Amino acid sequence: MSNYHIKGLEEYFQVYRKSVNHPEQFWEEIAEENFVWRKRWDKVLQWDFAKPEVNWFQGAQLNITENCLDRHLYTRGNQTAIIFEPNDPKEAAQHITYNDLHERVCKFANVLKDKGIQRGDRVCIYLPMIPELAAAMLACARIGAIHSIVFAGFSSTALRSRIQDSECKMLITSDGSYRGGKTIDLKGIADEALQDAPSIESVLVVKRIKSDITMKEGRDVWLQPLLDKASIHCDPEIMNAEDPLFILYTSGSTGQPKGMLHTTAGYMIYAAYTFKNVFQYRQNDIYWCSADIGWITGHSYIIYGPLANGATTVLFEGVPSYPDYGRFWQVVEKHKVTQFYTAPTAIRALAKENLSHVQKHDLSTLKVLGTVGEPINEEAWHWYNENIGGKNAPIADTWFQTETGGIMISPIPFATPTIPTFATLPLPGVQLALMDEDGKEIKGNQVSGRLTIKFPWPGMARSIWGNHERYRSTYFSTFENHYFTGDGALRDATGYYRITGRVDDVIIVSGHNLGTAPIEDAINEHPAVAESAIVGFPHDVKGNSLYGFVILKEAGESRDNNNLRKEINQLIAERIGPIAKLEKIQFTPGLPKTRSGKIMRRILRKVAAGELHDLGDISTLLNPEVVESIIENRL
Ligand code: WTA
Repeated sequence: MSNYHIKGLEEYFQVYRKSVNHPEQFWEEIAEENFVWRKRWDKVLQWDFAKPEVNWFQGAQLNITENCLDRHLYTRGNQTAIIFEPNDPKEAAQHITYNDLHERVCKFANVLKDKGIQRGDRVCIYLPMIPELAAAMLACARIGAIHSIVFAGFSSTALRSRIQDSECKMLITSDGSYRGGKTIDLKGIADEALQDAPSIESVLVVKRIKSDITMKEGRDVWLQPLLDKASIHCDPEIMNAEDPLFILYTSGSTGQPKGMLHTTAGYMIYAAYTFKNVFQYRQNDIYWCSADIGWITGHSYIIYGPLANGATTVLFEGVPSYPDYGRFWQVVEKHKVTQFYTAPTAIRALAKENLSHVQKHDLSTLKVLGTVGEPINEEAWHWYNENIGGKNAPIADTWFQTETGGIMISPIPFATPTIPTFATLPLPGVQLALMDEDGKEIKGNQVSGRLTIKFPWPGMARSIWGNHERYRSTYFSTFENHYFTGDGALRDATGYYRITGRVDDVIIVSGHNLGTAPIEDAINEHPAVAESAIVGFPHDVKGNSLYGFVILKEAGESRDNNNLRKEINQLIAERIGPIAKLEKIQFTPGLPKTRSGKIMRRILRKVAAGELHDLGDISTLLNPEVVESIIENRL
């Protein structure tokens, strides 16, 4: 039996039991046998969810890039580490070997050092999906700098607030990016963000689209000439197990985005372990995750997890619809992809298109499929299974979060029987608990409740950057001694889990988490707006769409005021990003409120979804009369 690579259902149950009965021994064996360390740990685990404080492998020293790169040079230096597939299918793909990647990372790391970046400094990375993005994050890790990658679809305001929050010393960006047939002026957006970002000392600029941009004297420098001069030798900085590796921002239901802080050893082990098992990766496989590296899925399952296993991972710059809707399947055929991992929203969008886009391509190399980011509906699951997997490639419906660092619930392909819409069983080391509203654990099967985790796992975030108290109150105060996920789940008769969705005010649109509060703040900035509330409603491709209820300052403004709607959406796009735009905006004289003044979103959600027959009890509202008008003017 191997703890590290589970191959059957019986084995899964055995390994799982061991991970629960002897968690320290379980993770210690995995750490010992599968990674390289500069110094051994003194203690495997020390934890206290009340503080909360969690330390894994305290006393150990390592560098994650030594595990992801150096150690592979002896065994597979000439094997491809990254296949870069550009946005334009006419541009040649790049096969970057482990030797090449190591060299690129060392050079990049030397450039960072030359620019004054030191261990512990924060470096913001705002780049499209190009090899320099992978090299930049690994270069940070090489020298012990903390990377904070911001998804390149975010607006200048979103970028600025993230840079400010973690006081980044450097920004790495590009002249622009390709997105299907369009180009995006990333440098222009970055310049706007930097108008108020005093912590930034320098900006490294990657040339990607060769556009004409302005370089600010004394601040901005082109990357390539510096790389050309840099040495290919860079000793890895020796890090402590619990030293920060990266910060990644995620939306909360209230307030500013939270800078989730991940540390070195535990994150590495967890990303690597879950990658190996969930994708059943074997030597010579070609693995492709279509997420953006700007999300946790990209961090753990394009870069760190695959590279720690010496895998070949595809880095795709493009979009599923360019030059046509067959693009994903063309890439699978071209690179003979064996594992493919994507989001339900992409599956639903592609399932709407003509099947000939799929049938044109040879997908017979695919062995394992994965999905992540939101619940997958039954129809999409079957479409994926039949048309992409040929009913022959198990689907791993993987549940996890930015906060968990790696996959927590998922079938193990070829071991765990799958059922559509069920993420099935917890991975080894993951101790789930469903809780009722009074904070008691709901035992037994065929039950549903709030999903919590009652024992630490190595990949969990350790804090929120600069605000440990917010970390405690968000995740560890709802249920004593449990980590609260914010999701609801049900456990069926056989113990399988199905995630039923968020139970807080986070709305997942096309797989992107959006907090209601920052969007409402953006809307309320409009001079004509007095107050607003947004809710999600079901959408057949995006999973959820946003519906806004807006009170105007001047009563009597027309409810057909389309210009106003455009301006509101423009503001949202500027403040957060185009992904947060509202699908529907209803102007209303009031919002349903409780006597304590809280907006009753439950009612708004029902109205938005058109479930008007069952609004629940509205008698406790401060202003029940407003509900009628809201229903009447529903869009
Ligand atoms: C949701 C993404 C159902 C969930 C990795 C979670 C899912 C949030 C699934 C985290 C799934 C993720 N089934 N829901 N397989 N995977 N979610 O931080 O609500 O971007 O809390 O991490 O996505 O989103 P995040």
